[in-house]
Amino acid sequence: MEKGDSWVNDLFIEKSDLFLRILDNMWDRAERDVDSLVRLFKKYGISKSSRILEIGCGNGRILINLAKKGFKNLSGIDISPAFIEDAKRKMSTHNVSDINFYVGDVRTLDKLFKEDEFDVILSVWTSILGYYDSKTDKEILYKCWKIASEDSYLLFVNTANRDFITNLRSLGCRGPFYSDYGDFAIIEKTDFDYVSSYTSTRWLFYEKLEDGSLKFIDKVEIKLRLYSIHEVIEMAESAGWSFIDAFRSLDMLDTFLPTLSPLNMVFKKMKK
Ligand SMILES: C[S@@+](CC[C@H](N)C(=O)[O-])C[C@H]1O[C@@H](n2cnc3c(N)ncnc32)[C@H](O)[C@@H]1O
Repeated sequence: MEKGDSWVNDLFIEKSDLFLRILDNMWDRAERDVDSLVRLFKKYGISKSSRILEIGCGNGRILINLAKKGFKNLSGIDISPAFIEDAKRKMSTHNVSDINFYVGDVRTLDKLFKEDEFDVILSVWTSILGYYDSKTDKEILYKCWKIASEDSYLLFVNTANRDFITNLRSLGCRGPFYSDYGDFAIIEKTDFDYVSSYTSTRWLFYEKLEDGSLKFIDKVEIKLRLYSIHEVIEMAESAGWSFIDAFRSLDMLDTFLPTLSPLNMVFKKMKK
């Protein structure tokens, strides 16, 4: 069994109601995230009619907010039926239509979509990359390449960066961390194996009771392969993508500094 199969299934499918609460919380920053994404789109001439696919789209906060800004050819794929169902529900509450939401596994992208079907393939907030192993990640990047049009872009936004995370850990930022989501809370503890470059994160979910105390609900273990920028470039280039640029912040589009931010990376499809 590949590394991601078990925890991906656990967190996003079996216990989707727990992660859905986190996704719902991320909607608070969706408009801001989309504003910075649009800044990046403008820099590379990605227009409102570009055919955009978000891989691991969750419950649609990015695509629905892009649609609200007038983007027309939007598609999203996610392995979790519950998240896609919620994305479709949210489409109508946000008064947008015409986003194609699919339940599916990115590892079979080339079976779900045709060649030349998208101009932009987008991954936001550590979606997919690092969930499985480097061989699978490379295959996924190649499948993205197969369904992408000539001169298309592959974008990784706000994606886990090994150098940034190891820097934080060396500064003593190792947790456990407590995150308050209003009516529930998560205690998170991460171990990092420098040799394999996998993190093991344990999330303990708690319900917040009226008297302020916490009642344990469930736990999930996440195993994520962390990459440094040069490793992502190497994998993507071997799958047919040419590295164009990387940024520290999408608000400023300033120079990427390896130890100071997640990965915000732009690739362009190489000619055959
Ligand atoms: C961290 S969430 C990000 C959601 C969304 N991109 C956002 O920014 O709100 C990662 C998403 O990837 C999805 N995912 C994980 N493995 C997948 C796979 N093999 N194929 C498709 N989606 C997958 C999960 O169900 C989850 O919704």
